[in-house]
Amino acid sequence: MTIGRTVYLNGKFCPVEDATISPFDRGFLFAHAAYEVTSVYDGRFIDLEGHLSRLRRTLEGISIPNPYGDEKWAEIHSDLVDKNGMEEGTVYLEVTAGDYGLRDFAGPETFKPTVFVYTDARPLIGDLARDGIRAITLGDTRWKRRDMKTVQLLSQALAYRAARQEGAETAFMIEDGLVTEAASANAWIVDPDGKLITRELSHAILPGITRAGVVSLLKRERLEVIERAFTPEEAASAREVFTTSSGAIVAPVVAIDGKPVGDGKPGPVTRRIQRLYYEAMGADVAAVAPWALG
Ligand code: PDD
Repeated sequence: MTIGRTVYLNGKFCPVEDATISPFDRGFLFAHAAYEVTSVYDGRFIDLEGHLSRLRRTLEGISIPNPYGDEKWAEIHSDLVDKNGMEEGTVYLEVTAGDYGLRDFAGPETFKPTVFVYTDARPLIGDLARDGIRAITLGDTRWKRRDMKTVQLLSQALAYRAARQEGAETAFMIEDGLVTEAASANAWIVDPDGKLITRELSHAILPGITRAGVVSLLKRERLEVIERAFTPEEAASAREVFTTSSGAIVAPVVAIDGKPVGDGKPGPVTRRIQRLYYEAMGADVAAVAPWALG
């Protein structure tokens, strides 16, 4: 992870060390803020329109006016990527409900947002995509509107800490005996009959942009996806398990709670989906991910 030297704060590009935000900002006091993380590969954005459309929905849901139209958002993203010379990585944007110099739960009638954007250069197709990640399972303690991408990420931060303590890289969150999603990714399984399953969209999970991209690639390939919730037991006995997210694209899960998934190696369906997605990103798969060629 390499944070770009230049960031964007409230209408201006500036060095990261000059970007300061009031301690009375509602993002800081109440986690009253939306965010998005968009992948950049070979200098191009992956479905920025999808991210901006989800941002619009989240902002509307948490009563923050969208400070910019899509064109202006796209311009900020491109300018920042250019200024930091980033070819591969992610752009993080956050819009908070702003600062009023006091801690007042309800706040003013109309919010004047704080806007912060930074770049994070890192490989999207890296060792974890090749070798896989390990997951633990734990209870999903998040609020009930997980379809909105807000910075209320304490449950996820604690889940990652618990995972690290157990020698794993991620956590699958469980509610009412069903997997909701991974700590910062959507969860998928290939069941013992070879059926591909991911949870249906609802308030319980984030409508992942990568998930949507994979669903449409699978449709194009005429591969069936079953959209339904699955249990942690189904995940444990699945042939393959993987996650999708803008940060890690398609990540094979090779162990759950210390037990191997299948033979403990990324499986053929996961490899095929990685290949399809990488190709759609414009990657030269033979050069950057020969292991995905199968
Ligand atoms: N997280 N589910 C959760 C809870 C997430 O936080 C994320 C993304 C996803 C995948 O969504 P997408 O494909 O749109 O990235 C699913 C980002 C990457 C993060 O918090 O850093």
